[in-house]
Amino acid sequence: VKDVGILAMDIYFPPTCEALEAHDGASKGKYTIGLGQDCMAFCTEVEDVISMSLTVVTSLLEKYQIDPKQIGRLEVGSETVIDKSKSIKTWIMQIFEESGNTDVEGVDSTNACYGGTAALFNCVNWVESSSWDGRYGLVVCTDSAVYAEGPARPTGGAAAIAMLIGPNAPISFESKFRGTHMTHVYDFYKPNLASEYPVVDGKLSQTCYLMALDSCYKRFCSKFEKSEGKQFSISDADYFVFHSPYNKLVQKSFARLYFNDYLSNSSVVEKDAREKLEQFSNLTGDESYQSRELEKVSQQVSKPLYDEKVQPSTLLPKQIGNMYTASIYAAFASVIHNKYSTLMGQRIVMFSYGSGLSSTMFSFKLQDGQHPFNISNIATILNVSEKLEKRHVISPENFVETLKLMEHRYGAKDFETSKDTSLLSPGTFYLVNVDSMYRRYYAKK
Ligand code: ACO
Repeated sequence: VKDVGILAMDIYFPPTCEALEAHDGASKGKYTIGLGQDCMAFCTEVEDVISMSLTVVTSLLEKYQIDPKQIGRLEVGSETVIDKSKSIKTWIMQIFEESGNTDVEGVDSTNACYGGTAALFNCVNWVESSSWDGRYGLVVCTDSAVYAEGPARPTGGAAAIAMLIGPNAPISFESKFRGTHMTHVYDFYKPNLASEYPVVDGKLSQTCYLMALDSCYKRFCSKFEKSEGKQFSISDADYFVFHSPYNKLVQKSFARLYFNDYLSNSSVVEKDAREKLEQFSNLTGDESYQSRELEKVSQQVSKPLYDEKVQPSTLLPKQIGNMYTASIYAAFASVIHNKYSTLMGQRIVMFSYGSGLSSTMFSFKLQDGQHPFNISNIATILNVSEKLEKRHVISPENFVETLKLMEHRYGAKDFETSKDTSLLSPGTFYLVNVDSMYRRYYAKK
């Protein structure tokens, strides 16, 4: 098998969002400029990670005309816990059972925002392995990111993404360049099983993210060098796609890669930038993560390259917020949406980060594919502009009320939802009720 990777994609995000900043009494520009976020999607009481998964998988199978019997492996990445034993994957099996297909391997992968990448690697490895039976793999990343009141709340979001995996893919893995960094830290975690909200050390999580990025980049570069016999720099990739908790961190991340290239004497860093960065060349690693000045200067000198190589990936994360496992793939979908006509032959570098922590840098090579599995068709089916335009902006008061209701409903049984589907598009799944045995029932609009 050759060129194993992503054949097809679809994304679903709730039609409800909150325009940030209006309500919290935050200073003007704090969320839009300070965090770099414009809007935040959230699930109302009729949607959750299971309904979003059912919606996106059904939509992908329909739009690419895939027979459910052709799926041999289904992997889910999520950090939103609905059940501590029963995997989200088993709910999605309803779609496959209907067509008589129960021969589907795979369960859920969980580690903060990294679970989707673990699921993706599992599917790719399966297709490349001797246990592959010739059918497609399917990866679902689904999360609803909600935070307790406080500075982290505006960095929530919600979405589900489905990706079909197989050989001869228009988006294929360059598996030999993977760089991974995994350690034990308490930066963001969910120890309170009675609450959906994480415990988060915001500043530490930022530093852990940037340290993981450095480490993965070094390993990625060294594998590239070994295999290609030349140094890797940011000029060797057309786009960089990051896990995007909020856009400011993405800006800082690209600046960090640029600083790494400066330290390894890459010619991508031009003379005037070199002169400006020189004052930081002797900082220790720790000092460099604490230096606000370095952060500012490196962001400034890398800005033209950021606009070219990163900005096209920022649309959905800025509009939807942190989608946890789906975040990096929504950023990738934004590149496809913005650049589909010019991606042939290009390389896209991906950085996946999940707190706790697990992280990997890997890359895709893009090429022409056979219809319906080609880049421009994927862009058409993603239909990003229309999905964004169709959204309803909900007042911050209403958003806060919804979260209060969800706090109450979390882990609860024996209730019915409002079944109000007026904001949902036809074909969207929604939660109808949870019975006295905690069994959840969904319907399709
Ligand atoms: N106008 C413009 N910018 C402003 C304004 C304003 N009025 N007010 C503040 N800012 C800037 C700050 O200068 C800062 O930017 P900088 O870092 O470039 O200096 C930025 O806004 C954020 O403000 P802070 O006061 O530094 O931070 P805050 O207390 O708002 O918390 C944080 C931000 C830590 C990101 C919080 O939202 C959080 O904990 N989020 C969840 C954790 C997270 O996402 N971590 C990332 C990796 S882990 C994961 O993916 C879950």
